[in-house]
Amino acid sequence: MHSVVISGCGVFTPSETISNDELVAAFNAHADLFNAENAEAIAAGRLEAKPHSSSEFIVSASGIEQRYVMDKTGVLDPARLFPRLTPRADDDPSLMAEMALDAANQALAMAGLEGSDVDCVLCAASNHERAYPAIAVEIQSLLGAGGFAFDMNVACSSATFGIQAAADMIRSGSVARALVVNPEICSAHLEWRDRDCHFIFGDVATALVLERADLARAPYYKIRSTRCATQFSNNIRNNDGFLRRTRDQMDDRRDMQFMQNGRKVFKEVLPLVSQHIANHMEGEGIGADQLSRLWLHQANKTMNDYIGKKVLGRDPEAGEQPNILQDYANTSSAGSIIAFAKNSADLAAGDLGLICSFGAGYSVGSVIVEKA
Ligand code: COA
Repeated sequence: MHSVVISGCGVFTPSETISNDELVAAFNAHADLFNAENAEAIAAGRLEAKPHSSSEFIVSASGIEQRYVMDKTGVLDPARLFPRLTPRADDDPSLMAEMALDAANQALAMAGLEGSDVDCVLCAASNHERAYPAIAVEIQSLLGAGGFAFDMNVACSSATFGIQAAADMIRSGSVARALVVNPEICSAHLEWRDRDCHFIFGDVATALVLERADLARAPYYKIRSTRCATQFSNNIRNNDGFLRRTRDQMDDRRDMQFMQNGRKVFKEVLPLVSQHIANHMEGEGIGADQLSRLWLHQANKTMNDYIGKKVLGRDPEAGEQPNILQDYANTSSAGSIIAFAKNSADLAAGDLGLICSFGAGYSVGSVIVEKA
């Protein structure tokens, strides 16, 4: 069995941001339009008026202050509240591939590698632009990588499940170097017209280089172990798929975009994740006092504060459990990898950290790393 390391990471951040105030102004204008258009039905009690959203609620319920998006104008158009993402010609790189490529090139440069050094590409993401060919195969081609590539989707846990899949292949010798990319265009699956969740997501792409330790050319994090678990739940769900025929039908079908029972998710996922991490650490013989950093999934600040406290047995000190959700919002599978990429360079040799992502499925994945 080979030892596996993470030797490179990269984050592609879109150029456009939407502040909470901008988002709320657009949502409230949409609500006013909706209420005016449906005034009669609302007055007759056949329809509920849409209440306003508020920036104060968003910050206090989630900790999110802004989000990056691939298209701001479509999202902020009160008559639309949906990104304008122009379909690409078949011969042009897809949007996901383009974002992933940017993050992948950063990760490869950090690892001192070229695309041709990679023999496996996994595109692990919640939202895929098309059914096939796999986005991962397109990225493999654009990078000039060898071997093989495939897409996978375990919703917000896709990155850690991708890391486990790649690490297992490298350990057993079927590949030597893998790139795990997480291009997340969450703006295209969010229902921006739903006040309960319109503030939750943002767009981003992340990439990690995983390789055999004996091949690594740059400083790295050794992967001590990985652990994944799933447990079926309908509390986070998106029914979009081949049953969707037209945009009109999609407009009528709220279930064709992201849906969640946020309160239930909050209550049910917290114990699941805390227990999962505790079991993983116990299995590895690692005590809370030995863990220097926690890079958690970025959905909700209160949730992360709770998990951090549960795992460490005390309030995390500044920097021990870094959040990036205030800037990026929830970026699905990419969140914990952004936190890792932006908050790991200062660790010293021998320091241990844990990457954990969780979400729909339910699913939870954790990766224990050691700075070499
Ligand atoms: N602006 C103002 N008020 C709002 C609002 C908004 N945008 N959205 C909801 N509210 C209101 C609700 O109507 C409710 O009012 P009520 O008390 O009069 O009924 C109140 O605020 C509380 O709403 P609730 O949905 O219970 O808020 P919450 O504190 O549970 O926070 C989430 C909502 C979604 C942020 C939170 O539940 C969460 O983060 N859950 C986990 C999400 C998660 O991890 N999902 C995984 C996705 S990958």
